[in-house]
Amino acid sequence: MSKNILITGASGEIGTALINSLSDHSIVGLDLSDLHKSSSKKVMNFYKGSLVNKELISNIFSKYKFDEVYHLAALLSSKCEKEPELAHDVNVNSTVNLLTHCKIQGDGIKFFFPSSIAVYGMPDKSVGNINSVLETEFLDPVTIYGCTKLYCEMIGKYYAKVFGVDFRSIRFPGIISALTLPTGGTSDYIPEMFHSAVNNRRYVSFVNESSQLPFMTMPEAVDAIDKLMQAPDDKILSRIYNIRSFSLSALRCKEKILSYFPKANIQFSSNSERQWLVDSWPNDVNDDLAKEEWGWASTYTIDSAIEQYLIPNLKKNYQEN
Ligand SMILES: NC(=O)c1ccc[n+]([C@@H]2O[C@H](COP(=O)([O-])OP(=O)(O)OC[C@H]3O[C@@H](n4cnc5c(N)ncnc54)[C@H](O)[C@@H]3O)[C@@H](O)[C@H]2O)c1
Repeated sequence: MSKNILITGASGEIGTALINSLSDHSIVGLDLSDLHKSSSKKVMNFYKGSLVNKELISNIFSKYKFDEVYHLAALLSSKCEKEPELAHDVNVNSTVNLLTHCKIQGDGIKFFFPSSIAVYGMPDKSVGNINSVLETEFLDPVTIYGCTKLYCEMIGKYYAKVFGVDFRSIRFPGIISALTLPTGGTSDYIPEMFHSAVNNRRYVSFVNESSQLPFMTMPEAVDAIDKLMQAPDDKILSRIYNIRSFSLSALRCKEKILSYFPKANIQFSSNSERQWLVDSWPNDVNDDLAKEEWGWASTYTIDSAIEQYLIPNLKKNYQEN
């Protein structure tokens, strides 16, 4: 059955991939930027404008009755640190405004919120379970980005409990897409390494060799969103879930890339403004809750992600463009 869907941040990396997978439905998109060229025919109506424009959001909700909202628009981590007040306005106030419209619409509307491992704040990289952090541990973000994500998770759970908005959220690790390049995110160095290697371009990583985070591919992220949103209500007990596919250091990523692209030129020059963000995040997360409650399972290991998804699709993408 075709559903009415609102996607904010429709022109971003996840939005572009999500529109592709939800294209059987009636999609209304919103973003500050134009849609990716692959999306334009798949979106029923696109609003180019800002999420912080309350009148625009009211107009959209008065025109459509949505079954599902995918609220992807946000300022990402590096941009948030540069403009913390704007970050609060875009990431927090706009989320509360959207949740309020969903509350008014009623009918148990489903609301997807992409959270992040930035909600964690590790005291240092030597603490015991830095390689398997649970959803309930180390919720002490050091960045405004992490603070905004953690607050939105909490307010989302509140709107679920008190007002019946069916809020569901994934704390994403770094996401690697073969189709698009990220901008302004803290985990961007890994996708940037791959895109540069395929294009024979020298790459200088903004974090040091030992920096380690969890990652996954974009198709896995989109499949996970779909699986979580389709899961029966009675399975969704926790509402906020970690997921991950593999964890790797910047050096290990370089070594993997060199084994496929021996001429790749990857250097490291740590930028202190971005390094401390990575250093506050866990090396890896525990995703048992997502496995238990809605059957999350990763598709790829680092090797199969490179061989079966990244290399073929990166090459195809750059040959076509
Ligand atoms: N990509 C990742 O690795 C990752 C990891 C964890 C969480 N997330 C979260 O997933 C969501 C989508 O991320 P993405 O990777 O697609 O990022 P992105 O930057 O590619 O997309 C975000 C989109 O939001 C739009 N946007 C920003 N401010 C806006 C505003 N005021 N009004 C309307 N649109 C606005 C931008 O134009 C952009 O197209 C974000 O909430 C992000 O925090 C992403």
